[in-house]
Amino acid sequence: MAIILGIESSCDETSASICVDGQVINNKIASQFIHSGYGGVVPELASREHHKNIVPVVHEVLNDAEIKAKDLSAIAYTRGPGLLGALLVGSSFVKAMAASLNIPIIPVHHMKAHILAHFIDDPKPPFPFICLTVSGGHTQIVKVDSPMDYTILGQTLDDAVGEAFDKAAKLLGLPYPGGHIIDKLSVEGNPDAFQFSNTEMLHLNYSFSGIKTSILYFLRKEIKKNEFFIKENLNDLAASIQKSLIDMLMNKLVKAAKAQRINHIAIAGGVAANSELRKKLGVLAEENQWVTYIPDFQYCTDNAGMISISGHILYEKKQFGRLGETPLPRMPF
Ligand code: KG4
Ligand code: ZN
Repeated sequence: MAIILGIESSCDETSASICVDGQVINNKIASQFIHSGYGGVVPELASREHHKNIVPVVHEVLNDAEIKAKDLSAIAYTRGPGLLGALLVGSSFVKAMAASLNIPIIPVHHMKAHILAHFIDDPKPPFPFICLTVSGGHTQIVKVDSPMDYTILGQTLDDAVGEAFDKAAKLLGLPYPGGHIIDKLSVEGNPDAFQFSNTEMLHLNYSFSGIKTSILYFLRKEIKKNEFFIKENLNDLAASIQKSLIDMLMNKLVKAAKAQRINHIAIAGGVAANSELRKKLGVLAEENQWVTYIPDFQYCTDNAGMISISGHILYEKKQFGRLGETPLPRMPF
C-alpha cells in the first residue's frame, strides 16, 4: 500500500492532501486573505502565512484520514516554480518530516501537477491529450504523452490570463483578485458592447499585456468625456473584457488541437472556473468533436490534491528527491 502526503506552498495557498493507492482522500487548503488589500500577492507575507499554517494543515489531513505519520510511504511537495520564500517553507517542512520518518521525498513540478489533477477523478483523459492550464500565474497549452512526457505547444510571453482578468478588474475599481467578479458582472452585460485590440502572437503563444493597455487607454478616453463611464457601463465592460480574453485563449487552443490532430482536450487552473470559458469549450467541443475534461473546482485552483496524486504516480516510478535539493522558483518544465 502506498500512502503519500502531498504539500503545496508555491504561492498563497498552504495545502495538504493524502493519497492512498492512487485515491486522493482529502485536500485541505488554508487560503491567505491577507493580500486582498495590496492588489496582489505580497511574497514576504505569503511566506509568513505558510509558516503559520503548514503544521495545522498537515495535522488536519492526517487526523481526517485517520493515518499516523509513521504510516506514510513518502512525502511529495512542490519544488517549483513559485515564490522562493513560499517554496522554502514547504520544502524545509517536508525535508525535516521525511528525515525524521526515514521516508523518501518526491519533488513535484507545480505546472505538471495542475495537469495531473485530471487523474484524481473519473473520467481520466487518455494519452495523448492537450491541456490548457490557465491561472493567475500561468497560461500554457501542453501536449501530454504520458505523466513523464510533456511538450509545451504555446504559452504566454508576458502576463498570465488570470493576471489579465485581475488587472482589468483593478482598472474597473474592483477588489483583488477580481477575475470571478468580472465573471459575475458579465452575466448581465453585452459581450459585444466594446472591442479591445490585442496582440496576436506568432505560433501558439499568447500576450496579455497589450489588451490590458488597450483597456486602460479606452477607459481613460471615455472617462474624460463622462466621469461615470465605468459605473454606467460596468456589466458591458466586464462582459466585453471577458469575451476578448476567452476568445484569445480558445483561438489558439483550436489551432493546437487541429495541428496535433488530438481531440481529447483538458482545462486546468483557477480560470477554468470562468463561465464564458466553460460555455465556449462546450460549443467548440460540439464543432470539433472534442472530448473535454475539467477537474473538480477544488483541484483547479492551487491545491495539494494535485501534488499527492503526482506523488503517487512518481512514487510508482521511484522518482525520489534528495534531502540536499533546494526549491526552484523558475523550475524548468
Ligand atoms: O489557479 P489559481 O487559484 O492560482 C494561481 O496559481 O494563480 O488561479 C487564480 C486566478 C486569479 O487570477 C483569479 O482571478 C482567476 O484565477 N479566477 C477567475 C475566475 N475564478 C478565478 N478568472 C476568471 N473567471 C473566474 N470565474
Ligand atoms: Zn497554480
